[in-house]
Amino acid sequence: MTQNSLGESAVQKAVQSQQVNNGVLASATQTQPLWLLAEITYRCPLHCAFCYNPTDYDKHTQNELSTEQWIQTLRDARRLGAIQLGISGGEPLLRDDIEDIVIEAKKLGYYSNLITSGVGLTEKRIQAFKEGGLDHIQLSMHDITEEINNFITNTKTFELKKKVAAMIKNHGYPMVLNVVIHRYNIGHMKEILEMAEALGADYIELANTQYYGWSLVNRSQLMPTKEQVEEAERIANAHRANTNSKMKIFFVVPDYFAERPKKCMNGWGEVFMIVTANGDVLPCHSARVLPNMKFPNVKDSDLGWTWKDSPAFNQYRGDAWMKEPCRSCSEKANDLGGCRCQSFLLTGDAEAADPVCTKSPHRHLIDQAIEDAKNPQLQAQPIVFRNDKNSKKIIEGEFQERLTEFHALP
Ligand code: FES
Repeated sequence: MTQNSLGESAVQKAVQSQQVNNGVLASATQTQPLWLLAEITYRCPLHCAFCYNPTDYDKHTQNELSTEQWIQTLRDARRLGAIQLGISGGEPLLRDDIEDIVIEAKKLGYYSNLITSGVGLTEKRIQAFKEGGLDHIQLSMHDITEEINNFITNTKTFELKKKVAAMIKNHGYPMVLNVVIHRYNIGHMKEILEMAEALGADYIELANTQYYGWSLVNRSQLMPTKEQVEEAERIANAHRANTNSKMKIFFVVPDYFAERPKKCMNGWGEVFMIVTANGDVLPCHSARVLPNMKFPNVKDSDLGWTWKDSPAFNQYRGDAWMKEPCRSCSEKANDLGGCRCQSFLLTGDAEAADPVCTKSPHRHLIDQAIEDAKNPQLQAQPIVFRNDKNSKKIIEGEFQERLTEFHALP
C-alpha cells in the first residue's frame, strides 16, 4: 500500500467537523484515534519497488499478532473512539483470519476497508467478507501495460488484477482503485484513467510516489520530472472536467514538487493510530525510523495509555517541540512542520522543518534529489525490489552506497 491510501472517509469528515467545532491548536484538542490502520502482516506476494513498508520488515515477520490479539486490539481502539478500520499489509489476504476480523469489526461498529493487491481474493472469500460486513475494498493497480505492471511489482499479476476488479464490482462494492504513480507509468495517465473507467471505477487515487522505505532506496529510479508531474495533473484535471463520468479522481501531489509540506497524518497523534504486524503502535507509517523513540506494543501496553500518555505519542503532538523556522512561522498551523520522518531521513534531525518547505534551510536536499532523478547514471542503477532477501541484505548492511545519504534506513 501507499501512504496516501486514506481516501474520502468517515475519518476525514470527522476531522473536518472537529476543526470547525474546535478551531483551536492541535495541542489543546482532545485527540481521538479515529482511524485505526491494522498492518496485519508484512508478508506480501508482490515486491513493489515503491513500497512504503520498512526496509527491515523481515525482522517483524515471525512474531505477528494472533487473531485473538487483533480482535482485542480492535475492541480497545474502538473504546478509544476509533471508527474507521484499514486492514492493510503487506498483503492482508495472506492471513486466513481476515474473515474473523471483519466480522468483529462489523460487530464493533467500524467502517472497514480492505486494502489489497487482489492476490488471494477468491469468490469464496469475497462472499464471506460481504456476509461478514466488510464495507469497502481498495485495489491497487499499477499500469495499463502488462510489462510495467509485472516489472514494478516483480510479479505476474496483471490479468489477475483485472479479474479481481470485476469480482469486486460484481459483489456490489464501490470500485476504488489506487495507482501509485512513478516514472514508469506517469506517461500513461490518460490510458490509466480510461482503464479505470472501463473497469467501472467509482473512485481512483493517483498517488504520486512519496519517498519513504523502499521508494526512498529507489528514489532516483522512480522519481519523474517536474514537467511529467505537471502534465499528469493536467490530464487528470482535464479528464475530470471533460467527461460525464461520475468517477472521482484524487490526484495526490508528490511532496517533493510542492512548496509547502503536508500535515503528515493530519498531525502526530491526532487521528491516526497504526498497529503493525508484530503489535507495535505507531502514530505514522514510518515512525520506527526516528531515533531515541520507544513505541509501545499491544502485547504489553494498554492502548489507552499508549494513545494518551506514552512519550512516543506525545513527542510531536502540537507545536511545542518546534524549532525555527517553524516555531515563528505564520503558516505552522497549516502543516505542523510537515513530516517528522521525512525531516529525519533527509536532514538527520527529526525536529527540523520538513525540507520540502521552501522556508527550510534544507530545501536544497529536495532540489538535489529532483536533479539526481534526471541523472542517467543514477537512474540506471538497478531497482532494489521489496522482498525478504533484499530486506535481509539491508539489515545486514548491504546497499550502503545507496543508503548513506539517508539517516535511518533500514
Ligand atoms: Fe510523516 Fe512519520 S511518516 S511523521
